[in-house]
Amino acid sequence: MFAFKASAQQGTRMFRVKTLSKCVFRRKISSRLVLGIETSCDETGAAVMDETGLILGESLHSQKEVHMKTGGIIPTVAQRLHRENIGRVVQEAMERSGVTQSQLSAVATTVKPGLALSLGIGLDFSLNFVKLHQKPFIPIHHMEAHALTVRMFQPVVFPFLVLLVSGGHSLLALARGIDDFLLLGQTLDEAPGDTMDKVARRLSLIKHPKCSMISGGQAIELLARDGDRLKFLFKPPMGAHYDCNFSFAGLRNQVTMSIQKKEVEEGVEQGTLLSCVNDIAAATQHTVASHIAKRTHRAILFCKAKGLLPSCNPTLVVSGGVASNQYIRKTLKIVTDTTGLHLLCPPSKFCTDNGVMIAWNGVERLREGKGILSHTEEVNYEPKAPLGVNITAEVKEAAIKLPPLKLRITD
Ligand code: KG4
Ligand code: ZN
Repeated sequence: MFAFKASAQQGTRMFRVKTLSKCVFRRKISSRLVLGIETSCDETGAAVMDETGLILGESLHSQKEVHMKTGGIIPTVAQRLHRENIGRVVQEAMERSGVTQSQLSAVATTVKPGLALSLGIGLDFSLNFVKLHQKPFIPIHHMEAHALTVRMFQPVVFPFLVLLVSGGHSLLALARGIDDFLLLGQTLDEAPGDTMDKVARRLSLIKHPKCSMISGGQAIELLARDGDRLKFLFKPPMGAHYDCNFSFAGLRNQVTMSIQKKEVEEGVEQGTLLSCVNDIAAATQHTVASHIAKRTHRAILFCKAKGLLPSCNPTLVVSGGVASNQYIRKTLKIVTDTTGLHLLCPPSKFCTDNGVMIAWNGVERLREGKGILSHTEEVNYEPKAPLGVNITAEVKEAAIKLPPLKLRITD
């Protein structure tokens, strides 16, 4: 059914995406087509996809560079940029696909969760579009779309475990069906990408010649390669909490205090690049990685104890911007190898926000006939929306202690 080529990369399975070349313009459309639209945070994305998961056309406008300069997302700026770009992005995706509006079977758009002002732009645009072209509308849950993106590349069967780690997300869930999720754990404060972005900002890595054009998380990964993580020992978060929730704010405090101490020792002002940035990056990355790995390990053991994972090919899917961090992937690979799970990550491009993952979620819903609306009067966006049924209390009650596991990564 799926015509994607698999290739092994650093112990984690990756998949090449099949997109359509220009020959699409002469192609006879024989399957249902979905236009997907994403505007929940800082990416304006659109894609046209057929029912087999083939990407016919896509376009993406990222606001990341603008927000990097202001040191974080200003919602009104994000809203303005979505408003300025959405028309062009959708038009580009449509033109590249060679599909006309009348050939679309449905429009799928992220309506939750996300920044209210950003979600509003995508929803308004989509509701006008479906009204004008008389199309059914499929409201999409952003986290569900992230969780299921992997199925575009591989027929991963339900149930499977999902870890979503990015600048805005940090959660562990069991995907049991396209609209059936159990939430096992989530962050109590901030997401790991956000933590690494803030650490990078506090270290003024933007002034580092190797890091001026990349995200904070990427900068941490890059510098960590030349650092000694043992030079700074940060206390692992939530060691006495036997659940699958995450917390990164305490680690950020520890890192900030170490940076302040070093600035005093070196007699430099805040904003000066410290001589030990590589070591701080390495220690931060390792602590983030081992925290994520331990929570994931417990989630796997919980699912196994409760018989929630299949005995054949149990799978952990990892997605979100932070999933592209190779050190974190390798740490997770130690956990999945130990517990007998397959580790799957969508290609980096599809781990982050885009219109393709929304179109794919629309395709999955269209195939199963779930959540397809012909009337849109009642549709609204929801900035806060839980993923599935929250069983984090049950996970906590199980209080699973982890067996010792060496999370030592060597390049
Ligand atoms: O999924 P994404 O594009 O959007 C948000 O949810 O914000 O993820 C972006 C986040 C940023 O915080 C970025 O620093 C982080 O993912 N990130 C990384 C890496 N690449 C991106 N964090 C660690 N290592 C990386 N290689
Ligand atoms: Zn996202």
